[in-house]
Formats: sequence, structure tokens, C-alpha cells
Amino acid sequence: MKWIKVADGEIPKTDGIRKIKIGGKHVCIIRHGDKLHATSVRCPHAGADLSGGWCEEERLICPYHRHAFSLETGRGDPGQGDYITVYPLEERAGEWFIGMKESWLGSLFKT
Ligand code: FES
Repeated sequence: MKWIKVADGEIPKTDGIRKIKIGGKHVCIIRHGDKLHATSVRCPHAGADLSGGWCEEERLICPYHRHAFSLETGRGDPGQGDYITVYPLEERAGEWFIGMKESWLGSLFKT
């Protein structure tokens, strides 16, 4: 796992979803209540951009067909049979870092 700093300007200051590109991937940074979450952007159902969705009861709702995904685990609601990726976020001395798996190739050339 590698930890990458999220630029302060890319963290939503109020409830909402911001799509950013980090570590070569598009990621949704989501502020919901007093928590921050990071998830994949593409809905596994039919490919909608989840950054156009919204949050309800600790779930991210897809704007196309309203599949709902846990902000904590990424698991879809019962019966959906799908899930999204949830990335770990850590605050260190007021800065936010996102944890991303290193590719096999990337870990090979790690210094
Ligand atoms: S594309 Fe997301 S629920 Fe259908």
C-alpha cells in the first residue's frame, strides 16, 4: 500500500462529493457529516459517474438507477450484488493521505 497526499483544495469543506485524479486513478472524495470517505468513481451497475450522486444514511447513491453503496465497506445494498472500492484515508498533522494498492509492476521498481 502506498499513501499519497490529497491536496487540501481537493477536500470538500462541506457535505458533498468531489472527483479527483490521484495515483493515476479517478477517485470520489466524499464529505458526509463529520467524516471523509474515498471511493471509486465508476458505478459497477452500468458505469455511471458516482461523483454525480449523493449520500443517504451512510450510503453513496448512484445518480442513474439509484444503486446504493456503503461508504464504509463499498458493499451494495442487499439484492444488488455489486460493490465499489473504498480507499482508506488517514489524517496526519492536518493533512490527508489516501492509501492505494501498488501495482505488481510498481512494487517491483520501488526504491
Ligand atoms: S449505473 Fe449506477 S445504478 Fe445503474
